[in-house]
Amino acid sequence: MAARLLEPIAVRNMRLSNRLVMPPMATGRAHPDRGVSPEMLAYYKEKSSGGYIGLVIIEHSYISADGRAHDRQLSVADDSVIPGLKELAEVIHGQGSKTVMQINHAGSSATEKILGAKPVAPSAVDNPLRGSPPRELGRDEIAGIVCDFAAAAGRAWEAGFDGVELHAAHGFLLNQFFSPLTNRRQDEYGGDVLNRIRIHLEIVKAIRETVGQEFPILVRLGAADYREGGTTIDDSMVAARALEAAGVDLLDVSAGFCGFPETGEQGFFAPLSEAIKRAVNIPVILTGGIREAGIAEQLLQDGKADLIGVGRAIMSDSLWAKKAVESLQGR
Ligand SMILES: Cc1cc2nc3c(=O)[nH]c(=O)nc-3n(C[C@H](O)[C@H](O)[C@H](O)COP(=O)(O)O)c2cc1C
Repeated sequence: MAARLLEPIAVRNMRLSNRLVMPPMATGRAHPDRGVSPEMLAYYKEKSSGGYIGLVIIEHSYISADGRAHDRQLSVADDSVIPGLKELAEVIHGQGSKTVMQINHAGSSATEKILGAKPVAPSAVDNPLRGSPPRELGRDEIAGIVCDFAAAAGRAWEAGFDGVELHAAHGFLLNQFFSPLTNRRQDEYGGDVLNRIRIHLEIVKAIRETVGQEFPILVRLGAADYREGGTTIDDSMVAARALEAAGVDLLDVSAGFCGFPETGEQGFFAPLSEAIKRAVNIPVILTGGIREAGIAEQLLQDGKADLIGVGRAIMSDSLWAKKAVESLQGR
């Protein structure tokens, strides 16, 4: 039987040659002017070499200056970066892989030192993971952030990326809105799950208006906080259905407001991705701890997800994908 990991899959109009994904991983290699650097081009060329990875998701890139997370982070915040982004998309396409840009606002994960100003957040509540004490966003500012996300997605589209991914995990701004740990708002952006993902839904709508119907929109969803009083998988199933109804094309499941579990288990978020997969009809990516091609294949065959992300194993071994594909072809 042919390996499921090697089967093609379509995500809206993006046709992936297989189901192996390189998840977004910050490299800190952007040019100091915050554009794509030669170092970054070389890195992604090496990782995508041979086209063995169906989908390469580019590391979280900031949508506006007040949404930066760290130094030498890639920017999608203004049009000056578009030529560099074009080169990046071309390098990966040249290897035969598709590529999606992850776009992010760090919110209260940023520090005052990095921003030169107080970070912003849904509420003036310290981020349990990192960052400096934030100030609460006004409603006009939230509307501005929605526009910034849409403009950033428009730049990725213009640069030739195959899609865009909203970073709504790992304690960054969209996760801060989703999580009751950091969202204490009394207005329509706080309270029940649908209010806490109102900004996500507004962003998806604004992106669609910017890029049209063809361009895939992915969401990396922090599907459980694993913290007392935080989000649970039940919240995430409600959110997942609403995101699908709003036109999201794929859910990339991650979790852990406060970092991912280091259990050594391969596919440690499988219970979450399996539950999300049951809740929606769009494809779901499972990432986390996977180091062996045979296990990636088994997780797909067991219905835990539709695609598999392999992060650190690919980061430390650029031949990982080639070896994985060849081992499964030879079965
Ligand atoms: C160095 C590093 C940087 C990361 N940067 C991002 C990022 O930019 N966006 C994101 O959504 N996840 C990021 N992650 C999380 C990974 O995408 C992935 O979910 C995590 O490493 C678990 O998968 P793995 O066990 O296959 O590595 C990062 C992880 C690492 C190790």
